Amino acid sequence: MSLIVDEHRQYLADPHRLAAFERAITATVKPGDVVIDLGAGTGILGLFACRAGAARVYAIDDGSIIGLARELCRANGYSDRVVFVKGLSSRIALPEKADVAVSDQIGRFGFEAGVWEYFTDVRARLLTPQASTVPRRVELWMSAVEAPALFEQVEFWSTRPAGFDVSPARVLAVNTGYPARLDEEQLLAEPALLASLDLAEPEPPSIGAAAELTVERAGTLHGLGGWFRAELAPGIYMSNAPGDASRIDRRNVFLPLDRATPVAPGDRIRVRLRILPSEVMLRWHVTIETAAGDGKAVFSHSTAAGMLLALEDLARTRPDYVPRLSPWGLARRTLLTLCDGRRPLAEIESELCRRHPELFASPAAAAGFVAEVVTRYA
Ligand SMILES: C[S@@+](CC[C@H](N)C(=O)[O-])C[C@H]1O[C@@H](n2cnc3c(N)ncnc32)[C@H](O)[C@@H]1O
Repeated sequence: MSLIVDEHRQYLADPHRLAAFERAITATVKPGDVVIDLGAGTGILGLFACRAGAARVYAIDDGSIIGLARELCRANGYSDRVVFVKGLSSRIALPEKADVAVSDQIGRFGFEAGVWEYFTDVRARLLTPQASTVPRRVELWMSAVEAPALFEQVEFWSTRPAGFDVSPARVLAVNTGYPARLDEEQLLAEPALLASLDLAEPEPPSIGAAAELTVERAGTLHGLGGWFRAELAPGIYMSNAPGDASRIDRRNVFLPLDRATPVAPGDRIRVRLRILPSEVMLRWHVTIETAAGDGKAVFSHSTAAGMLLALEDLARTRPDYVPRLSPWGLARRTLLTLCDGRRPLAEIESELCRRHPELFASPAAAAGFVAEVVTRYA
């Protein structure tokens, strides 16, 4: 079985997630509505919409899972109501406007899986002006975290594996957000609401947020923990928050600090966050003070500083760089030209291999390359 199918099994095996979406979709979709299931996966959210009385569901997914979604739909007797569209939501057009869009593109920290960006596009092009979205709002929450085991992912780079100095990697490690399942016992402070994203508003290029956390117990601060709470429909919520009784099976994010810092009850942790949602970029600035106001530590981190950038790739971003196609680029250009609406696949593979013998020894050797380009662009 493909690992993609197993990933979707995990989505379907999460009773809290399914219950929240079913309640929200039942509360939102009215009989006769047209619904967009954005990032349909197995099509489960569209099936909920059918059950709620939708006249038509457009199930959109850019992955091959859409084939399985079609079969599951047939197995449940809704084939006459669901139209399957394989493609990126931002690149497709539909024959009618929809009344509701549903999606679970909510990242671990709420913003980073694209829900806001996709809904902004869908709202502008594919929804009626009064349409609803599920979710309608996403909140970003944060707390201070004691997590020695997670912090080892940073500290590893100060050790000497096989006797070698690997410390140049530490700066990357400490500027990275790590997926992690945080428990309530690891939190050092009452969680704070950082931002509430109204999905009816267009996505802004950047979001600033600030919070002050007060330490409640003595411990060691290793970093910040982030999670979300989504309002799927008025009064119906879904969250991956540590300690939430209906917590869904989605990890949180751990944002480390450069140095593990002992903290005491009453210490204040001031957090400033800058998020660039469409670039999935995050900056966290943290100031720690005692209850009396004495400074303890200041940290500044950014996922931009955690990116692996090769000098060769950086050079390619300079405005004066003159690009020239590589042999694989030339082959792709040939292939795109050969897809002229007349040639069958077998002829394209033979011709590609004739024109680029240095890359493809036989038409069979070209088949994988052709399939990859054709499924994406043709
Ligand atoms: C988290 S899964 C959710 C699947 C399903 N909606 C559910 O609730 O179980 C996300 C799915 O969305 C698809 N996807 C993500 N972004 C997309 C986009 N912009 N357009 C189309 N499909 C997208 C992925 O291929 C994946 O199958």
